[in-house]
Amino acid sequence: MSSNKIDLVLFGARGDLSRRKLFPALFQLDKADLLSANTRIAAVARQELESAEFVEQMGETLKTNLGDDWCDTVWSRFKKRIEYIRIEFSKKEQFNALKDWSDESRTLIFYMATPPSMFGIICQHLDEANCIDAKSRIVLEKPIGHDLESSKEVNDTVGKFFPESGIYRIDHYLGKETVQNLLALRFANRIIHTQWDNSSIDHIQITAAETVGIEGRWTYYDGVGQLRDMVQNHLLQLLSLVAMEPPNKVEADEIRAEKVKLLKAMTPINKNNVFDHAVRGQYSAGSISDDPVVGYMEEEGSAENSSNNETFVALKVFVDNWRWAGVPFYLRTGKRMKEKVTQIVITYKDNPHAIFSDDDSGANNRLVIILQQNEGIQLEMLSKKQCMKERSSLEKRTLNLDFLDPNDDGRIVDAYERLLLEVLNGDQWLFVSRDEVEASWQWCDDLLQAWSDNEADVKYYSAGSWGPGKSESLIENDGRSWYLA
Ligand code: BG6
Repeated sequence: MSSNKIDLVLFGARGDLSRRKLFPALFQLDKADLLSANTRIAAVARQELESAEFVEQMGETLKTNLGDDWCDTVWSRFKKRIEYIRIEFSKKEQFNALKDWSDESRTLIFYMATPPSMFGIICQHLDEANCIDAKSRIVLEKPIGHDLESSKEVNDTVGKFFPESGIYRIDHYLGKETVQNLLALRFANRIIHTQWDNSSIDHIQITAAETVGIEGRWTYYDGVGQLRDMVQNHLLQLLSLVAMEPPNKVEADEIRAEKVKLLKAMTPINKNNVFDHAVRGQYSAGSISDDPVVGYMEEEGSAENSSNNETFVALKVFVDNWRWAGVPFYLRTGKRMKEKVTQIVITYKDNPHAIFSDDDSGANNRLVIILQQNEGIQLEMLSKKQCMKERSSLEKRTLNLDFLDPNDDGRIVDAYERLLLEVLNGDQWLFVSRDEVEASWQWCDDLLQAWSDNEADVKYYSAGSWGPGKSESLIENDGRSWYLA
C-alpha cells in the first residue's frame, strides 16, 4: 500500500466510465488494501446534488456492478473517502470549492473522465484556483485528438499546466494483465526471444473483434470510426509491444522509447498501396448468438443519409527494420462480429525440409496469445501420434499455459485497477507518452488521407460475421488465412 499522502479528483464522476470502471476499481483497490488509508476522493460533476446523496447512489451502483465482490465492511470505510463537489467546468469561481477541499501537503491526482474538449478549460480553472502544484498529476482518457494536429493541440494545452512526467495518458489495453504478460513472455523466456524475428516467424496476426455495436454512441462514433477508435491506440499499442526491441529495463522511459522507434518504423499505407493493404467495413443487419441485430445505419440515433464511416478495419502492415523485414502483420478489428476475441497469433515458418510423410505445410508451429475472453497462451506443436500401426505419424497438439492465474480471491483484475494503482504509485510504464501518441497518429493520418484520396467506400458485412469478404482476400491473396481457435 502506498504510504504517500495522495488525493484523487475525478472529473466526470457521474459519467459512465466513473460508474462502470473507476469507482469499482477504487473499491477493489481498497478491498485489497492497496489504497492508502488516508487517500480521499473528490467526485466532481456539474449536477446539483448533496454529497450524501451522491455517495448513496454510488453505493447502489457499486453493489450492482460488483455483484459477489461487494463487501459491506469495505464500503463502510470506502464511502468515507468520497466527497461530492459540484462544479460547472466553465465557471472558474466554482473551482474554489475544490481548493477549499484540497490540502497543499498532499499530492493531487486529477482524473479527466470527461470529453477531451473539456481538458483545456478544466486545467485553466484548476490553475487559476491554485489547485495545481509541482506534485500534481493528471490522467487523460482517450481520444487524444482525432489526428496528429489536434492531438498536438490537446497535448500542448495540457502541457501548459503539467510537465510530461505528470501526464498519464490511458490506453486501457495496457492495463490488461495479459498485455503486461506479453513483456514477460518475450523477454523472460530465452526460448521465445531467440525465435522472435524474420528468420523464424512467417507472419503475425492481431485481432480485436467485438460483438457489441456502437452502444448508443452513434453521434460520437460516426465522426470517428474504428481506425481512430481502436487501431490508433489499442491495436498499435499491441503491435508495438509485440514487435519492439528489448528495452534495457522494465521502466517507462525505456519501454516508451522502444515503442516509438517501432511505430516510426511502420511502412506507411498511402494512396499507392491502400487497396492491397487496408479494408474498411460497415456492418449491416444480421444476428449474433441467434439474436437479430440491426445494421449500423439503423442504430439508435443514426443519420437518415447513408454514412461511409467504418466499423471494421483489416490491415496488412510491414515494419521496416532489420528484425521484421518481410514479415507481414495482419491486423483486424470490428464491431458486431461473430465473437468477442482479442488475440495475437504468431505463426512460425515451415521447416526447411519435411522428413515426415504427413508433415504438411498447414501445420506450422503457432503461438496464440489470448487477451480475452479466456486469457492464456497456447503453443501449437507437432507430436507423434500414439499409435502402434503407423510408424511415425504426426498430429497437432497444443501446450496450454494459463497465462493469467486468477488472483487470490479467484477474480480477474480489471485493467483500471492496475492503471489506477500505477498512477497512485507515480509509475508511467503503462501509460502512453506524447511521442507515442504522435507517432501513431502520424501513421493513421497517412492511411486516412489515402482512404479519402481514393474515396474508399466501406464494404458491408453482416453483423455476426468475421467482416467483409475483402478482409479474407487481404490475407488469402498471400496464401494465408485468419486464425480461428
Ligand atoms: C474502447 C473503445 O477504447 O475500447 C470502444 O472506445 C471499444 O469502442 C472498447 O468497445 C473495447 O475495449 P475492450 O476492453 O472491451 O476490448
